[in-house]
Amino acid sequence: MNVEINNLALDACSADLTITLLDKASFNKHSAFETLTRSGFKAEQDKIVVLHESAQLFCGIETFDTDAVRSALAATARALGSCNYTSAKIACPNAELLQPLTEGMILGSYIFDKYKSKPETQLFEKLSICASGLKGNSFEAAKKTVHDALVIAEATNFTRDLVNATPQDITPNTLSIIASDLADANNLKCTVLDHNGLESEGMNAMIAVGRASVHKPHLIHLSYQPKNPTHVISLVGKGLTYDSGGLSIKPATAMVTMKMDKAGACAVMGVLKAVSELKLPVEVHGFIGAAENMINANAYKPDDVLVAKNGKTIEVRNTDAEGRLVLADVLCYAQEKVEADYLLDFATLTGACMVALGEYTIGMMGHNESLKNSFFDVSDRSGELLGTLPFNRHLKKLLKSEIADISNIGSKPYGGAITAALFLDTFIEEKMKEKWMHFDIAGAAYTESAWGCNPHGGTGAGVRLTLEWLKQLKK
Ligand code: BES
Ligand code: ZN
Ligand code: ZN
Repeated sequence: MNVEINNLALDACSADLTITLLDKASFNKHSAFETLTRSGFKAEQDKIVVLHESAQLFCGIETFDTDAVRSALAATARALGSCNYTSAKIACPNAELLQPLTEGMILGSYIFDKYKSKPETQLFEKLSICASGLKGNSFEAAKKTVHDALVIAEATNFTRDLVNATPQDITPNTLSIIASDLADANNLKCTVLDHNGLESEGMNAMIAVGRASVHKPHLIHLSYQPKNPTHVISLVGKGLTYDSGGLSIKPATAMVTMKMDKAGACAVMGVLKAVSELKLPVEVHGFIGAAENMINANAYKPDDVLVAKNGKTIEVRNTDAEGRLVLADVLCYAQEKVEADYLLDFATLTGACMVALGEYTIGMMGHNESLKNSFFDVSDRSGELLGTLPFNRHLKKLLKSEIADISNIGSKPYGGAITAALFLDTFIEEKMKEKWMHFDIAGAAYTESAWGCNPHGGTGAGVRLTLEWLKQLKK
């Protein structure tokens, strides 16, 4: 699937089908008003009618804002998937909408059929965006916008593919191989620590989490290092290739979908793929803690006390709160290896975050209010939903342990997303407190019912938000 931009008038561009977005006002005065009304069309958001005789597709839209346009194009892409057209064209109403038009098309046309015995055949190949009248520098800028949007949407789909792949296929070891293949393809650096490497780094919390699995934990460090970077950014991703809960085992229904517990890691990989393709002037390090939380006779237990990489001791009271144990060690490792301007972590960390914000919204937690605002500033444009949950000292006290430095769960059942983030905070060095931000993507990373431009399965949560934020970083 490709999206291209030209500066032809719509009529001068040749394609199988013409796409028109119609809000209520433009629908009322449209020449096809009567035919469309007969078909039941009311210009409602994402509702589609195709008039095959005149080769026209109409999609309803509430207003011409970025979110509605992205969603309408995703709905259009899905509709085109079940038609036999190979190309389509659309007029671009204004340059601001080039990014959502492109992203909507690529994100909406995503299909995951790796495990189908008969993969779906897709005839649709190309969308042409006609930005008639754009010339010179503005046309060059428009071409770059479309190119960048393509890279970002394709990186999101790359992340979706990884999240959707099964735990049979994605283990800590195979994830390392995929990361090193990505590094080869995109000129990144990749280092992997296996069990011995983790042991010599003193990453005992992470080792304990993965101990009961036949697939031993790996730490993956991917980096993109352009010359004279404006900033150095460290990204940390939770990469639980499967989370059964361990001995504090999950109920059967809650275990289904837990292949997505690697979504933070997959988002970090998607971001690294895109930053290198966009050639952003920012040095980006991705640190991934890959492990599988399973059960065997050697499993780590509630009541164990683990010694993390920084020497802090952790009382395990629930083996299902494993992500924070892995992240504790990986955050320490990331801070030791790279002196970053910002440290961001992405994790499907808590069900509590979904309870607090709903399943569509990423939960953002940290100490630095202006850093939070810089993410809010880009979230709309990125197409990702963001909410924040506040820290307080009373919740922090719930992590107190009688026998170790900290407990891995809060002592009360409320505020679980925040206590999880406050647990991570214990592993953030004093000088990094204001530079760190935690993103709980438990709800947003995976969906069992399609919404917006997300089909069933992995959504690629965090990829577009982070890339939009990285794009706006100034010297
Ligand atoms: N991976 C889960 C969090 C999760 C839950 C992600 C639902 C996506 C959907 C995490 O490891 C976990 O099990 N967290 C526990 C923490 C609890 C034991 C304190 C949870 O949220 O129930
Ligand atoms: Zn868990
Ligand atoms: Zn988990």
